[in-house]
Amino acid sequence: MENESNKAFLESYAMKGGEGPHSYAQNSNFQRSAIEAAKKLLQGAIADNFDLKIICVASTTNPICIADLGCSTGPNTFIAAQNIMEAIELQCKSQKQSVQEFFVFFNDQASNDFNTLFQKLPPNKKYFAAGVPGSFYGRLFPRQSLHVVHSSASLSWLSKLPKELTDRSCDAWNKGKIYYTNAPKEVEDAYKSQFKMDLETFLQARAQEVVGNGIVILLIPAAHDVIDFSVDLYGGKDYELLGSCLMDMAKLGLVSEEKVDTFNVPTYFPHVKDLKKMLESNEDFSVEKMELI
Ligand SMILES: C[S@@+](CC[C@H](N)C(=O)[O-])C[C@H]1O[C@@H](n2cnc3c(N)ncnc32)[C@H](O)[C@@H]1O
Repeated sequence: MENESNKAFLESYAMKGGEGPHSYAQNSNFQRSAIEAAKKLLQGAIADNFDLKIICVASTTNPICIADLGCSTGPNTFIAAQNIMEAIELQCKSQKQSVQEFFVFFNDQASNDFNTLFQKLPPNKKYFAAGVPGSFYGRLFPRQSLHVVHSSASLSWLSKLPKELTDRSCDAWNKGKIYYTNAPKEVEDAYKSQFKMDLETFLQARAQEVVGNGIVILLIPAAHDVIDFSVDLYGGKDYELLGSCLMDMAKLGLVSEEKVDTFNVPTYFPHVKDLKKMLESNEDFSVEKMELI
C-alpha cells in the first residue's frame, strides 16, 4: 500500500502542462535564463572533454545520443538540446571529424505533458527525438547508450519526502510548517539526507547508462554558502507565508491541521559547499568543472 501511495505522489511532480497562462511553458523564464547563462560553460565543457573518436568508439555511423532529464514541456529543453548539439558540432569540426546524426531523448515523469512537448518540437530541428517516461531516480536507458546527459532545474525535486517530517515522535516533525526554512535543524537535516541519497541514486543509474568518457552536465539550483536556512532561502519566505496561511485556514476550520502538518514541499536547495562534497565523493564520475552561474 505504502508503495502505491508513494508512486502516486511521485507522479504528481510534473509541471503544469499546456500553453495556458499558468503552464510551465509560459512560466519558466527564470529557468531558461540559467540554461542561457550556462551556454558558454557547456561549450567549454564539451570542447575540453568531448573527443568524438574516444566517446563514439563503437561505430561512427551510430547517432550521438543526448538525454535531457526532467525536460518538462519546453521550450527550455529545446534550447538546451540545441546548445549541446551546436557545441558538439563545433567540437567535431575542430577535430576535423564529420558530424554525425543526433538522437535526443526527452525524459520526465510519465504524468508530464509529452503531447505539448512533441507538438512544440522545433520544426527545423536537426535531430531525431523520442520521449522517455519515468523517474530519473531509476534506470531509464540501456547500458552504455548515452553520450551526453543534461539535466537542469530538476534535481532539486526529491524522490520522496523523508518520513520523519510527518512523524510526531521525531525531532524532525515539521509541525505547522511546509518547508525547511525557519524550521528546526532536524527538519533541514532530513531534507538534506534525502537529497544526498537521491543524488547518489541518480548518479548510480547514469553511471550504467553513459558510455565511457561520456559527459553529464547538471544545472542544480543551490543556495549560497552564507545563507542560513534557519533564517532564509530564496523562495523560502514564500513557502513560510503559504504555510502560515494554511495554518490560519486550519484555525478557521477550513482545512484540518493534520493535513497541514503532513504536507511538506518536496524540493531541496543544497549549500554549494555541500553539493560540491556530494558530487566529488561520487566514485563513478569525476567532476571536470563546477561553477556558479
Ligand atoms: C523546474 S522543471 C525544469 C524543466 C526544464 N529542465 C527547465 O530547465 O526548464 C523540473 C522538472 O523535473 C521533473 N522531475 C522532477 N522529478 C523527476 C524525476 N524523479 N524524474 C523525472 N523528472 C522529474 C519535473 O516533472 C519537472 O518537469
